[in-house]
Amino acid sequence: MALDKQEIIQLLRTKGEERTSLLKRSQETKLNEVGNKVYFRGLIEFSNVCAKDCLYCGIRKGNEKVIRYDAKDEEILNASRFAWENNFASVVLQSGELSSPAFVKRVDSLLKKIKKLSSNELGITLSCGEQSRETYKRWFESGAHRYLLRIESTNRELYYKIHPNNQTHSFDKRVEALGFLKETGYQVGTGVMIGLPFQTYEHLADDLLFFKKLDIDMCGMGPYLEHEDTPLYQYRHLLQTKQERFDLALNMIAVLRLLMPDINIAAATALQAIDPAGREKALAVGANVIMPNLTPTAYREEYQLYENKPCLDEDAELCRNCLEARIHVAGAEIGYGEWGDSKHFSRRTQEKKD
Ligand code: 5AD
Ligand code: FES
Repeated sequence: MALDKQEIIQLLRTKGEERTSLLKRSQETKLNEVGNKVYFRGLIEFSNVCAKDCLYCGIRKGNEKVIRYDAKDEEILNASRFAWENNFASVVLQSGELSSPAFVKRVDSLLKKIKKLSSNELGITLSCGEQSRETYKRWFESGAHRYLLRIESTNRELYYKIHPNNQTHSFDKRVEALGFLKETGYQVGTGVMIGLPFQTYEHLADDLLFFKKLDIDMCGMGPYLEHEDTPLYQYRHLLQTKQERFDLALNMIAVLRLLMPDINIAAATALQAIDPAGREKALAVGANVIMPNLTPTAYREEYQLYENKPCLDEDAELCRNCLEARIHVAGAEIGYGEWGDSKHFSRRTQEKKD
């Protein structure tokens, strides 16, 4: 559906009955376009070592309170095996951002090992930040087929309010990296945080229009949650209440579903940090992907990008059972054993071939 900036802003602002009707419309669009299935992506947060200093992020380099870890290959492979044996069909490997040759090589070797242990069946998404064109290509060739790189905000000024203004955190490089990913052939996912200090409805409308223009295949976006040990915490008095940020995040998902009906939209874990049923609520208004946490429990405490991150103690088995029940309560079906690729991606790559 085509929507202009003013229409988007109006939709994002809706409350009460009008909002109920927006959420209903997006749910219908989702059912018509991508169906009632929810796809699992087992999330493995394999390292919290990060070379960057994003001002909102709990695992930023400058946070000395964090105990840094690097999961062992064996632990990562066990988590992947769990995903495969439980028919999750896909995993997401996520980490802090490093670009050393050793890191690039390690990810490469993990990709090959995960492919091998699953007879090439497990789909692999990477979420390891900005890398060179060559690195993206190398990882793609070794088996990754989707990549998540949130733009965080598409407004340059706001971007530099939430990141240090330097070459390591360049807005242009982030946009360029998204271009590299597309050109390499990945299914590309991006997203933003919602309810950031200094963020306006206009910014959020521009974010959605940016997604449309970039023609993304997947999106993950959730509420911004302040973290005490980060520089952005000083602006907490400027924030909307958590409930307001939550509601706005659902509105963003709903409007995005109307704007890009056939993409995959993830129900972000951050929603659950505000509302225990947050992710299911997102599924009910347009999301169709969920990322059960498979990170070894010993490390979870140290991967707190934001406060109140849920499921810190639950192991993979518990997470799966808990999610399964929640999804059924939400009336959706789980796409076990299916990659659940973005329909949008198949269409846009098919169009190219035709
Ligand atoms: N609140 C909400 N989301 C956050 N992220 C990082 N820090 C926070 C925070 N304080 C999100 C970013 C990043 C993703 C992995 O987690 O959008 O891309
Ligand atoms: Fe690690 Fe931003 S703090 S990528």
